[in-house]
Amino acid sequence: MPKRRILVTSALPNANGSIHLGHLMEHIQTDIWVRFQRLQAHQCIYVCADDTHGTATMLKAEEQNITPEAFIEVIHAEHVRDFHDFLISHDNYYTTHSPENQEYSSLIYNGLKESGYIRRKTVDQLFDPEKQMFLADRFIVGTCPRCHAEGQYGDNCEACGATYDATDLINPTSKISGATPILKASTHLFFALSEFTDFLKAWTRSGTLQEQVANKLAEWLDTGLQDWDISRDAPYFGFEIPGEPQKYFYVWLDAPIGYMASLKHYCDRTEGLTFNDFWDANSSCEVHHFIGKDIVNFHALFWPAMLHATGFRTPTKVHAHGFVTVNGQKMSKSRGTFINARTFLDHLNPEYLRYYFAAKLNGNVDDLDINLEDFTQRVNADLVGKVVNIASRCAGFINKQFDGKLADQCSNPLVLQTAAARDIIAGHYEAGDYSKAIREIMALADKANQFIAERQPWILIKEEANRDLVQQVCSDGLNLFRLIVTYLKPVLPGLSLASEKFLNIDPLTWASLETQLTSHQINDFTPLMTRIDQKSVDAMIEASKQDQDSVPDVPTTSDLAAEIEFSDFAKVDLRIARIVNAEHVQGADKLLRLTLDIGFEERNVFAGIKSAYQPADLVGKLTVMVANLKTRQMKFGASEGMVLAAGDGGEEIFLLEPDSGAMPGMKVT
Ligand code: 2FM
Ligand code: ZN
Repeated sequence: MPKRRILVTSALPNANGSIHLGHLMEHIQTDIWVRFQRLQAHQCIYVCADDTHGTATMLKAEEQNITPEAFIEVIHAEHVRDFHDFLISHDNYYTTHSPENQEYSSLIYNGLKESGYIRRKTVDQLFDPEKQMFLADRFIVGTCPRCHAEGQYGDNCEACGATYDATDLINPTSKISGATPILKASTHLFFALSEFTDFLKAWTRSGTLQEQVANKLAEWLDTGLQDWDISRDAPYFGFEIPGEPQKYFYVWLDAPIGYMASLKHYCDRTEGLTFNDFWDANSSCEVHHFIGKDIVNFHALFWPAMLHATGFRTPTKVHAHGFVTVNGQKMSKSRGTFINARTFLDHLNPEYLRYYFAAKLNGNVDDLDINLEDFTQRVNADLVGKVVNIASRCAGFINKQFDGKLADQCSNPLVLQTAAARDIIAGHYEAGDYSKAIREIMALADKANQFIAERQPWILIKEEANRDLVQQVCSDGLNLFRLIVTYLKPVLPGLSLASEKFLNIDPLTWASLETQLTSHQINDFTPLMTRIDQKSVDAMIEASKQDQDSVPDVPTTSDLAAEIEFSDFAKVDLRIARIVNAEHVQGADKLLRLTLDIGFEERNVFAGIKSAYQPADLVGKLTVMVANLKTRQMKFGASEGMVLAAGDGGEEIFLLEPDSGAMPGMKVT
């Protein structure tokens, strides 16, 4: 088999929060593929980095009164440790805030400029006059121009689903200072993406993408590509654009270039590795990106166009995956299912998660559900009950009865049959369909267990005449175990290492599948993996409920809205309301329809709290409502008031409840 030279990347995690299950799925998916390639003796370099630039990093550092550089350093150390402990085998985990990245970002930008692909346009944008900065959509809130729901972001309304420009919001407010933004003109630099439409139409259909992804992109390509705004005005944490003082590269320009920069940093420190071998236009190496389905536009439109325009090679393949859900729902802090890497490690063996992801990943973009009961049951049944069981049933006899020595031949047809499955299993790994690979491997483990159960060495050993047979059966069993562990090695590097020690062998490779162990001395058996205890899973969920992100999002005085007069406040009629009915609204993603009893009448109110509450749990609760808000006509009917809730949205919505004794209709003062 000719040796392949492959560069592999996972999407760069943002440097403003902890590594969680979502990142882990992607890195484990990538790592299994990388380890599989290395096991086959291909050269496979796996690089990644923290994605450090942008306004969010700048503001979080500011909140902590430290420089962005100091802030991203702390996060980097935490990320490196988390990935290491999950056995993710990055060759280099770098940062986008590096000299290499600045060099390649400038090189690519200058290349685009020289070829005439950078355009200038003046755009009117909302500007925070207090903070003296332009505001991205997510830093502006206001009233939806369509349904008049308050507290909506600058790009779309969570209540009615409208999309709009931030300048269309009614009463826009800066989330950063609370000031009213003003419109201000600024010159921006654009990458002429539209000129690459024909190139991208061909490229996206050239086998580089999964079909579902290519179909999605075809919709965008058919409606016409817009030129892409690649500049941001100061203040911004990033790289200043060459020749454009006070203008910075938009974070999404330098993020994918971070893949190149991480490789460059690695090549400069590694004998025999040359950056250009991987990135030259006519490179014979492969480049594979593993990403989430939400960022395919950046990786399969902007990125290949930038590379093509500047004489670099384009990716061989972009492998997109879906999102992680837990117990069928979005990961949730309040349910304890938003699980950080470190919290998992505090309670469970990382290989449990690696195995569970492998058993469910199939190489398409569907979401992947971690059902916690299934997780426990599956890991215990497959890994402990099937795989480790093969070794533990055979090792005792070999060690105690035969001084650790295996039989001097191995011609068992089951061993040969197990070894012969290697091409089928390799095909599934290569295609990213790990679930099929695992199914094949577990079927082989079942057969191995069946073989031992049928031969019953524990009965045979009672007759002296059967001694050779017992040695043969148990040696065959351990040879089956060795093959199965080789197949699982990309998924379970830790278990494999412990097995290599126990079997007293050199590191297993795909080529080892062609040989068997005969007349070989093994070591004493020590338990290779223990069962998951349900108590540990429960403790992890409890701990996740308490978890704060390592970078806490502490509210500050700058979150306060502008001061108002008491007379303004007095205009608001707040009343205690009892929720007498709550139901889903057909076609609404965020809303529940509430019927509120306020003592003297009932009100129909649409509340954007669906992501945090089940209707049945709300019925009977007391809450607080704004009772004199003008009736608002919404897509789904009239909303006669508003209920009060705290929190940032999503799972983090907490309905206000009065103390006991409050009665529907009471005025809240
Ligand atoms: O979506 C994200 O979390 C980005 N930080 C991914 C960047 S991937 C690459 F382009 F750098
Ligand atoms: Zn709206």
